[in-house]
Parts: sequence; structure tokens; C-alpha cells
Amino acid sequence: MIFSLAPILGITTSSYRNAFHKHFGGMTKYYAPFVSAVNTTVENPNLLKDLSPAKSRPLQINGAEMIPQILSCDGVLMRKLIIKMADLGYNEINWNIGCPFPTVTRKKRGSGILPHAQLIDKVLNDAMKDIPCKLSIKMRLGLNEETEFRDVLKVISQYPISEVIIHPRTGKQAYSGKPYLERFAEAVELYGKPIAYNGDIFDDESFFRIKEMFPNVTHFMLGRGALSDPFLARRLCGNPDFDNETKIKMLRNFHDDIFHSFDVSFGSVNKDIDNKPDGICNKMKGFWEYAAVHLKNSEQFIKKIHRSKNVRQYLDVTEQYFQNDPDWIDNGIYYFLRSNLDEN
Ligand SMILES: Cc1cc2nc3c(=O)[nH]c(=O)nc-3n(C[C@H](O)[C@H](O)[C@H](O)COP(=O)(O)O)c2cc1C
Repeated sequence: MIFSLAPILGITTSSYRNAFHKHFGGMTKYYAPFVSAVNTTVENPNLLKDLSPAKSRPLQINGAEMIPQILSCDGVLMRKLIIKMADLGYNEINWNIGCPFPTVTRKKRGSGILPHAQLIDKVLNDAMKDIPCKLSIKMRLGLNEETEFRDVLKVISQYPISEVIIHPRTGKQAYSGKPYLERFAEAVELYGKPIAYNGDIFDDESFFRIKEMFPNVTHFMLGRGALSDPFLARRLCGNPDFDNETKIKMLRNFHDDIFHSFDVSFGSVNKDIDNKPDGICNKMKGFWEYAAVHLKNSEQFIKKIHRSKNVRQYLDVTEQYFQNDPDWIDNGIYYFLRSNLDEN
């Protein structure tokens, strides 16, 4: 059985993935957030920067695999990007047909393509011509209806897709409501080849419940649950859990590594704290939305983090929290499941 880290745009960059693997492990594969295949002749050097071999090396050295992801509904552009990514040394590229953001789905990208099985056929036909690597797919059940996957899987099964990962919600649902587990079962039956499961595994109990329902599934992709409890995957692999004090120390080291990595990418390591770019602080806010879930008294801490305007304020708040009797709690507050954080 394998676990993989789901792509989470804005959070699971190379800084995050490499630090995660170093401090916690438990994941065999790490999927990078999507890169859009855009119609431009001028190559944007930033586009693939986070996928450079130097950024993926730390994972490879430690035996894990990194899989870049593409968002596109144009097979010709997608093929060009697949080849570019393969040239960087990747053996597998993932096609995202699950993204629920309306700005994406409106253009028939992400889950917006799911009602259009014929277009999926055309994209795969164009994109997979003589590509030098594997192509896998991460999808939802549909855009509007949780039955759209039936036509989609029929098309996909005609191509040598290396793996299909399903998050059993619709795009319209985004992250609300519950995953349709009975539809996932239907997809597994219909497709006939292994399908990986993704969605709402937040703790041991939810994992074992889903595992029991799908005993033949061998790959589980963990997203928000692993970001909130980075010990989850290694525990599900059968490793003993750490005591709370050790967990806090490990979380602190994880945080410090990610902060340092952002500091390096902003070129500000040698700058005085007051001259470090606010961008570092903004990136760390996303980190805490998940990482604070299992911390005691994290509500006030999170509010202060969100209010911090520069690196000095950010580091003061963080330091204060870690100095002030921090503790790990099993029943955390899932900030990302709330619509909005109370401003006060
Ligand atoms: C903020 C955010 C950003 C995401 N970015 C991506 C992405 O770039 N590519 C992708 O395939 N899925 C993306 N997802 C979806 C996750 O990979 C995953 O499918 C989803 O969160 C359900 O799994 P989970 O319940 O384990 O989190 C994103 C989800 C969230 C909440």
C-alpha cells in the first residue's frame, strides 16, 4: 500500500515537499500543484522553475517520486509541456481534470472538461502522441453530476494511462458535502484497473473506514489531512507515533526549514529581518492554515499570524507561540472547513 501527498496549490511547493519528506516521510509519491499549458511562444522561465531537477533531487535521493501536474484542455499544448517536463527528468506527468475553481472550469479545464468526454478523447489523442513518459490522471466524479465519470472512464480506458486517481466529489461541490463513496465503488468496478482514492482522509479512523470499504485500493492520496497532521502517513504505514513534545519540536523544525527555503528563494537570507520581503510572511500564512489544526490554543495564534504584516511581526508571533507551552491535540480545529475566519 502506498500513500502520496496531494497537490495543494500555494502550499505544496518544492520547499514544502522536500521539508515534509525530510521530517516526516510516509509518502512514496509527491504530486506538484498544476502548471497550466498556455499558448505562448515565449517560454516563461518561472513556469517550470519549481520543477527544476535541483528542486526535485532531495525527494529522489530519499527514494520518493515527484510527479508534476498539468492543467489543460488543449492536447497539442499539453504534449509540448509533457515533453518539457519529461526533459527535466520526470517519468510520470499527471493531468488534472478535477480542479473545481470556476475560473478554471469555465474554460473547460480541470473538472470543467468532465461533461465533455469527446473533448477528453481529443486531448488524450493529441497529448499522448509519442510522449517519452507515463501520463496519469487525477479527476473528480463529474462537474455537475456525480455520474459523468462513467463516460469519462470509458474514454480513458482506451489510452495507456498509467494511473487514475479519483476524488469522489463533483466540481460543483468543491469541498462541501461528503465524497460519494458508492460512486467511487462503481468507478472501480467499471474501470477494471486499479484506481487510487483521494478525499477526506483526516485521521486514522477515516482512513481505516475507507480502506475497509475498498480493500483492493492500494494507493491513497492524502491532502488536507496530511498537511494538518503530517505524522498521519507515517503512522498509517505502521510506524509508532511520537509523543506530543516530540511532535511539537518536529513541527517547529519543519516550519523553520520551509521558512528558510522561502528566504533562500527570495534571495534574502543575508538580509536584516526588517528587510526581508513580506512575501515570505504571506507564504507562511498558507502553511499555518493547515499546520495549526492540531495545535492547542491555535485560534488566537492563527488570527495573529493572519494579522502579521511583515517578517518581523510574523516571526515574533511564531516565536511567542512556541515559547508559550505549545501542545499537540488530537481533535483539532479544521480552519479550512470553515467558510471564514472570524476577523476578531
Ligand atoms: C487550496 C487547495 C489547492 C489545491 N490545488 C490542487 C492542485 O493544484 N492540483 C490538484 O490536482 N488538486 C488540487 N487540490 C485538490 C487536492 O489535491 C485534493 O484532491 C483535495 O484536497 C481532496 O483531498 P483531501 O480531502 O485529502 O484534501 C487543491 C485543494 C485545495 C484545498
